[in-house]
Order: sequence, then C-alpha cells, then structure tokens
Amino acid sequence: MSKADLIVGLQWGDEGKGKIVDHMAQTHDYVCRFAGGHNAGHTIVIGDKKYALHLIPSGVLNPKAKNIVGNGVVISPKDFIKEMEQFENLEGRLFLSDKAHILLPYHALIDQARERMKGDKAIGTTGKGIGPAYGDKIARVGHRLGELLCPDKLTEKIMAYFETNKTIFEAMEVELPSERGLLEELEGYKTILAPYIVDTTKMMWDILAEDKRVLLEGAQGTMLDIDHGTYPYVTSSTTVSAGACSGLGLSPKDLGKVTGIAKAYCTRVGNGPFPSEDLGAEGDILRKNGHEFGTTTGRPRRCGWFDAVAMRHAVRVNGADQVALMKLDVLDGFNEVKVCVAYEVDGKEIDYVPYDLEDATPVYQRFPGWDKTKGVREFEALPKNAQSYILALEEMIGTKMGIISTSPDRDDTIIR
Ligand code: GDP
Ligand code: IMO
Ligand code: MG
Repeated sequence: MSKADLIVGLQWGDEGKGKIVDHMAQTHDYVCRFAGGHNAGHTIVIGDKKYALHLIPSGVLNPKAKNIVGNGVVISPKDFIKEMEQFENLEGRLFLSDKAHILLPYHALIDQARERMKGDKAIGTTGKGIGPAYGDKIARVGHRLGELLCPDKLTEKIMAYFETNKTIFEAMEVELPSERGLLEELEGYKTILAPYIVDTTKMMWDILAEDKRVLLEGAQGTMLDIDHGTYPYVTSSTTVSAGACSGLGLSPKDLGKVTGIAKAYCTRVGNGPFPSEDLGAEGDILRKNGHEFGTTTGRPRRCGWFDAVAMRHAVRVNGADQVALMKLDVLDGFNEVKVCVAYEVDGKEIDYVPYDLEDATPVYQRFPGWDKTKGVREFEALPKNAQSYILALEEMIGTKMGIISTSPDRDDTIIR
C-alpha cells in the first residue's frame, strides 16, 4: 500500500504549484486534483513551450502519468472541454469523479452579479462561478457529474431549480437558458465527457493498494482557504492538505510527504488583507520581474514581501514536511530584501495570524540583496546572501526548503 504525496499552496495562490507538480509528475504514476475549479491557473514552461492549465491536473504534460479530477473539484464542462483540446489521446489517462459537482454558466452569472452588488466590498473573485457552485453543493441543491449521463433528467431538475429561485434570478438580472437550450447543452457535454466519468474514489483506493506513486495537486493557497484564510476574502473550497482527503475519498493515513509551495516574496490577486503588500516602487519591480499578472483573469497581482508569520500558520495547518521556495530569481538585483517577521496589532507585536488580518501592520527584518540566482541549479552555486536569506527563512518557519526554483523552466530547480 503506497502513500500519496501532496502539493499545496502556502500563500494566496499562484505560488508556482504547477511547475513543481509537473516536475514531480516525472516520478509519479498518477496526479490527482482535489479542490477548486477553473479559478485556478497553473502555468508550466517546458523549453520554449508554455501551457496554461485550469482544471486538468498538471501531470498531463508527462505522457506516462495518469490524471484524476476528484469529487472535491467543481467542474465546468464547457471550460473543461476547451482545455482538453490542447492535448491528444486523453482517453485512458484522464478520469473525472462522478461525484464532482457541475458548474454551469448560470453559476458564473450569479458570481458576477453578486460581485457587482457588493460594490467596493467585492471579493474580487475570478467571476467563474466558484462560490455559487460550491454554495449549491453545500445547500444540497447542486448536481454531480454522474447526473450528466442522463441529460433529460438533469435538465428537468435544473429547470425546477430555476423555477423555485425565479425571483432571485430576476433580481440579479441573470439570464437563464431555455429548457431546450439547456438539454442540448448538456447532451453536448455528455457526448464528449461520458468516457471520462468514473468512480474515482474506488480508483484511488485501488491505485494505492497497487503501490502506484500518487501525487495530489492542490489549487489556490492556504490564505484563500474557506476556513483558514482571510475570510470572507477567500475562495469557496478547502485548499489545505485536509481537503485532499475529503476531495478524493482518502483517509489521513493515506497521505505521505507534504510539500508546501511558497514564493520567495508574496502576491495576492483580488481583494482582502495582505499585510506585507508593497504599494511602492519595489512592489512594482516585483510585479514586473515576476510577470505577476493572473493566468486566469490577466489581472495584475498585488505584490509584497515574504510573510514569515502567515507562512508558519500555513506550514502548521498543512503539516508541510518541506517547502519549495519559488521565484527566488525575482528578488535578483534588489539592494535589500524584506521579510515580515511579526505583525503589529493595536500597538502590540504578535507572531501569529490573528482572527482578522485587516488591522495588522508588518514588522520587517531586512536582508542584504544579491546579484543573480536566475537559472542556478545547485544550492552552493547561489550567491552567499541568497543562501543566507533561505537559511534565515528556514529558521523562521521551522521547515526545510527542500526545493528552490530559479526560473519558470522545469529544469531550473534545486533539489537539496
Ligand atoms: P500556480 O497557480 O501556483 O501553479 O502558479 P501560476 O502558474 O499561476 O504562477 C506562477 C508563475 O511563475 C508561472 O507563470 C510560472 O511559469 C512562473 N514561475 C514558476 N517558478 C518560477 C521561478 O522560479 N522563477 C520565475 N521567474 N518564474 C517562475
Ligand atoms: P491558483 O490555483 C490566486 C482568488 C480570487 C479571489 C478569491 C475568490 O492559480 O493558485 P473565486 O473565483 O475562487 O471565488 O475567487 O480567490 N483566487 C485565486 N488567486 N490563484 C488562484 O488559483 C486563485 N483562485 C482563486 O482572485 O481573490
Ligand atoms: Mg495560478
């Protein structure tokens, strides 16, 4: 019986999970997504080719790895089918849980309407319908992928749901499909997706029993977790490692090594607290050097410094055995780099994440900068100041940085 290794984001998403999942997929037989939807955007660079993945696990770029999308994911059939078009021969190496919930265009329209209605209190969602789809699931009015196999029955149920909620849809100015339009839409999805829909829970148990090497791929990040992030400025799923169990039908005993992914600095896209955000010229340099524009929405990402307090919280909540420190090269050329080592709240210094991060101001420690780490593939070949920076971060968060990434390329990765 093998154990499943796990990859999770430790910050506010976009840490570079895709690159590490792709890297590790080379030595795994299965890569399995457990949460989120097409709000995720994972960019993977192999040589001069660049891929953007949203729902398909990042193992797809390794032809030998099989890919599972678990029950904890919300799947937009339309977007999934579009994403599939980038690849050939997916049958037999891509499996979708019959228990995953379906996200339909009306979910996205509700998401956008709610954001409009919130005005300056908007969450800054991706507008893809993630909140409404998970909302329906929890309210027990959602629909699962297994139901797509009987489009006429599913159409009937969704039309009844539209009818019961008519006044809400009208107030939100959400345009709904006709019965005939919906049936045609669902039949189209069924034709393409039916061969991929299976009982992935049973499959997970079987592959672990067969001693396969299994990698679980998280989306988003710990600070966006529905329970452990900066609520309500979060996504609607369990992004932390516990979500890998419920999102795939595993028990905690099935989990192996947990690798948390973190940038050498911090970014956030969307609204909500971000204590170490740099709104000045240095934040602009991070954005420019790190190409910090969203994979999914193209929005500029807010940029700031490594937050060791939030990181300790994330390491603990996920049980991270090691951290992969990404995008170290983006800090190249700074005279000095800062790290948030504590927060000040109501004139008091604290070293933990409080109930509300909104009022926390960062306490910084400064480190001397370095010239160039880009493309370096050995720890000892890094400039001494970069080595000291990494060793200091390890000390602060109490976890080894077992992987260090120095460019988007698959091979520019230091394994310690
Ligand atoms: P994910 O959502 O966690 O998979 O991360 P994204 O793909 O949204 O964002 C990470 C971005 O950083 C992608 O464009 C990657 O190609 C890029 N990237 C990953 N690792 C490195 C690195 O070490 N250095 C640089 N410069 N870019 C990187
Ligand atoms: P990956 O997997 C960064 C953010 C949105 C918004 C909040 C809620 O690429 O790391 P949602 O559409 O989920 O309801 O939006 O969550 N968000 C992400 N930010 N990376 C992501 O995924 C994200 N997925 C959602 O910007 O602030
Ligand atoms: Mg991303």
